[in-house]
Amino acid sequence: MAGSDVIIIGGGIIGGSIAWRLAQAGAAVTLVDAGALGGEASWAGAGMLAPGGETAGRSRWAEFALESLALYPAFVEELEGETGLGIDYRRCGAVEIARTEAEWQDLLARRAAQSELGIRAEVTGDRLFYPDDALVDPRDVTRALRCACERRGVSIREQTRVLAVRVTEGRAEVETGGGVLTGSAAVLAAGAWSGAIPVFGPGGRIEIPASFPVRGHLLGYALEPGSVGPILRHGHTYVMQRSSGFTIAGTSSEQVGFNRELDPLVVDEIRARAGELLPRLRLAAEPIAWLGFRPATEGFEPAIGRLGDTCVWLAYGHYRNGILLAPGTAARVAGEVAGR
Ligand code: GLY
Repeated sequence: MAGSDVIIIGGGIIGGSIAWRLAQAGAAVTLVDAGALGGEASWAGAGMLAPGGETAGRSRWAEFALESLALYPAFVEELEGETGLGIDYRRCGAVEIARTEAEWQDLLARRAAQSELGIRAEVTGDRLFYPDDALVDPRDVTRALRCACERRGVSIREQTRVLAVRVTEGRAEVETGGGVLTGSAAVLAAGAWSGAIPVFGPGGRIEIPASFPVRGHLLGYALEPGSVGPILRHGHTYVMQRSSGFTIAGTSSEQVGFNRELDPLVVDEIRARAGELLPRLRLAAEPIAWLGFRPATEGFEPAIGRLGDTCVWLAYGHYRNGILLAPGTAARVAGEVAGR
């Protein structure tokens, strides 16, 4: 698709991955972000690549999650190869625990449903072990994506808010705070902010799925590298360790809009839950806390694909699985845009 020009709105891991793939396919790409590339949900995300923890049974998104998980090793290797930057990615597995007989029966039922999908889980004593779950540092990925995009000539515009997208005569006009960008296609990948960007066609406003933020708090502890093995999970409480020893505990789910103020009660509550899951955290030094905005849609399903027969593609609403779904979303969306 040499010579074609695509504007990507949103420079998180989703938009950045699509931009990279399109640039590899020969497109002239402009990547626009209201803030800094990778500065929102991708910066905040823990990076747990775990269909085993986030998927209860068969659905088209569960299958897509597995597809994207399978793409991860090659995605990381290629990104490292193109940039020379290291990415902390490990297939460390995950251990899921139950505290009561009822929880254990729920886990076994979930395992039965998941095994039909091909998600492996082994019973080890009173725990379930998911050998294929992995983790990645999303900040490493977005750093490498920026570098890969720069090397391939992607024009990066940060601190540039998109106000509207207009489709006229088969071209996309992206109205930004810094002027109008035009391209043969546009991709809306602005996470929780996507649904608020109006898209207009010749006949007026085109409806797109609404999006909203589901805030999550995370805690980070400085521990010895190698002191936590697999990811530990109990429901939506998890503890996972980066290769550096930095250990992340999560999380919360709050619908409070884009409120960026840390809630000390939520922080204390996660700290208590994490301490139950990994008692040594109770003795660790005070953790740092941060938060991010998961991009949700009404049905809590991603909006991925072409908007009708326009030259606009949607790639948002990945909710709890944006980091996991990035390679799959990029392959799908860039493939469709490049293959037009
Ligand atoms: N995927 C984990 C979370 O959203 O907290």
